[in-house]
Amino acid sequence: MIDLHAHVLPGVDDGPAAAQDALALLEAVRADGVITIAATPHAREDFPDVRVGEIAGRCRVLIASAARRGVPSPTVVPAAECSVTWALAADDETLVRATYGGRGHDLLVETPAGELPPGFEEALFRIAARGPRLLLAHPERSPTFQREPGRLADLARRGTLLQIEADSLLTRRRGSRRHALARTMLEADLAHVIASDAHTAGPRRPPRLAAARDAAKGIVGSQAEWMVTEAPAAILAGDELPRRPYGRARRRTPRLPRGLRAGQQNS
Ligand SMILES: [Fe+2]
Repeated sequence: MIDLHAHVLPGVDDGPAAAQDALALLEAVRADGVITIAATPHAREDFPDVRVGEIAGRCRVLIASAARRGVPSPTVVPAAECSVTWALAADDETLVRATYGGRGHDLLVETPAGELPPGFEEALFRIAARGPRLLLAHPERSPTFQREPGRLADLARRGTLLQIEADSLLTRRRGSRRHALARTMLEADLAHVIASDAHTAGPRRPPRLAAARDAAKGIVGSQAEWMVTEAPAAILAGDELPRRPYGRARRRTPRLPRGLRAGQQNS
């Protein structure tokens, strides 16, 4: 599996505090079946220790440390989880550095906690107009999108990729609004990626991507595997997403909210 959203760098944001915590997280990620992970520290005003020009170097230090100590580790790709405010204020060179691998193709943008600010989608389109394709992190956690899921369909229709957080699909979230919206996104073909958003080896926000993929399989069959392999690989490469697999019949015809019926996407 490929995990496009995780906080694995030590001592820069709310991820692992120290180097040994980061190594424990990498080991847990590898044991979960992840072969490539993106280091996506928060590029956000309240995390001043995250400087996007340093992320690639910090990834190299972490990988070297894992190798030295014999810690099984996935490949670590530098990136960032940008707030909209940060991305709007960043100059072009800084924005490119925040993209996956610093290649300028795809940018992970955070869905704000709490209600969305006015003009959120327009701000996303302004960022995308500068070049990168956007991957919107965990929109299912937003109370605004939970009330107005049609806005997610509009974003997907206009080219924004959508990432569900693994935790939203796990059993412990059943009955919650974020679980309900994550499920709806899967049923409406609105989700492109499932990622862990892991912060520690546990118990605070551990990597649970395999369990989330398996939960998603029960809803959308082989598309769940596509969302943790082929789709994230295409994003890392800056390629068009491959077609979604429809090899296995769904267990039932989903009843989608009114705002989503016209929003079904092929990819
Ligand atoms: Fe995150």
